[in-house]
Amino acid sequence: MGGPEQARDDRPGHGGGADRPSHYFDATPLSPSAPKTVHLHLPDGSLTFTTDRGMFSPGGIDPGTKYLLLEAPPPPSRGNVLDLGCGYGPIACTMARRAPDSMVWAVDVNERAVALCASNAAGNGLTNVRTMRPDEVPTDVAFDAIYSNPPIRIGKGALHGMLMRWLTRLVREGHAYLVVQKHLGADSLAVWLRSQGFAVERLGSRQAYRLLEVRRPS
Ligand SMILES: C[S@@+](CC[C@H](N)C(=O)[O-])C[C@H]1O[C@@H](n2cnc3c(N)ncnc32)[C@H](O)[C@@H]1O
Repeated sequence: MGGPEQARDDRPGHGGGADRPSHYFDATPLSPSAPKTVHLHLPDGSLTFTTDRGMFSPGGIDPGTKYLLLEAPPPPSRGNVLDLGCGYGPIACTMARRAPDSMVWAVDVNERAVALCASNAAGNGLTNVRTMRPDEVPTDVAFDAIYSNPPIRIGKGALHGMLMRWLTRLVREGHAYLVVQKHLGADSLAVWLRSQGFAVERLGSRQAYRLLEVRRPS
């Protein structure tokens, strides 16, 4: 297992060299590629993923991600769904399979992750996943639902900026579902989102995680 919110890929010989450690949210991971296969088993079916070094949780499906996939409400049967910070694609591919007539936009700043998410969608026979970097998403697309295991480790300012950028692209009746570790500030994130005018409900809390539902200001 890659570990919850695995912050760095800085194991000896696998990191970013002498100058700086590498992180799972680097645009171009420096860690040498070492592909691995992981399986995701859910009550509604199983999916197989290729993972790699230089991205989040390459050793197996992150427990927070699994919790979101088990507990979050399903995506709308039609519409646009965003997986914000898709990594190698467990959320995007699960939502695409659950809503085959929706389009799932899978975005990430990590180009190795974006490429793997695309090949994982294809490998699982999913044709309704579009993978890209954030800046490539057409500006006129609004989202009926957003799912995310957000990159808390990028820092509070960057995280808040990222969330504001995408939560404001929810349609008026849309919902976002965020899974966040308690010790990484799930409750303070909920307080901040409310201070920005969003409606936030805690849908669940299990072990180390909170599942938050976020809606736009009414
Ligand atoms: C906690 S990981 C979750 C990955 C994947 N969804 C999963 O559940 O395994 C968060 C992801 O957000 C990505 N990320 C970081 N900053 C981002 C940004 N500004 N926009 C989009 N994605 C970002 C990271 O590269 C990372 O893949």
